Amino acid sequence: MIDRYNKNSSEILLCPSILSADFAALGEAVERVADTADIIHVDVMDGHFVPNLTLGPPVLAAIRKRTSLPLDVHLMVTNPTDLIEAFAQAGADTLVVHAEVCTHLNRTIQQIRALGVTPGVAINPGTPLEALDEILPYIDMVLLMTVNPGFGGQKYIPTMTDKIRRLRRKIDDLGLPIHIQIDGGVGLDNIRENVAAGANMIVVGSACYARPDPAAALVELRSAAR
Ligand code: DX5
Ligand code: ZN
Repeated sequence: MIDRYNKNSSEILLCPSILSADFAALGEAVERVADTADIIHVDVMDGHFVPNLTLGPPVLAAIRKRTSLPLDVHLMVTNPTDLIEAFAQAGADTLVVHAEVCTHLNRTIQQIRALGVTPGVAINPGTPLEALDEILPYIDMVLLMTVNPGFGGQKYIPTMTDKIRRLRRKIDDLGLPIHIQIDGGVGLDNIRENVAAGANMIVVGSACYARPDPAAALVELRSAAR
């Protein structure tokens, strides 16, 4: 699976999050990182699962027309299963659902795969890794939240580095080809230790789009990660 996403790097996959971009100019935001990003991370928030509201399938479809990069859709909603078909049709390449809200997680993952979309499962900082144990053989990526979801620009929670390390060990012991994506508070100051801990898909919101030149920010982040 890594090859499918591996456009600009053989080591890590940088996933700029458009949550920190200008919402009146999302087309420009994705075009600006066309040559330096690997994946575009799209945060969907419903005002219930998290105390913030962002965007839905029509906006994703509009973004789809402006980039050929894979679109990674992070569903921070209480009813992800009801929305997966609409987001798949709108052009999602991955759909990531939170374990905390999926009563029938295994079924939801199968439904995502049946739509031809790569499935992932996210867990909040307060959710133990054990919540993933039964679903790991069925998914292509785990998203570890390294802040409490809802907003960009928050501070990285330091105990998450050890959680990444423990997940990496677990996945390697099982011999499963699963990406570890981390999301929240990652920037130039800590990307390297997170990659060393075992993360390989790195979401960057404010560390990319709050900078004057998002493309240059990604180049810097990629070299800082080594
Ligand atoms: C937060 C979102 C993140 C957010 C990260 O709930 O899931 O994807 O954009 O932003 P930064 O990198 O600024 O913490
Ligand atoms: Zn996210």
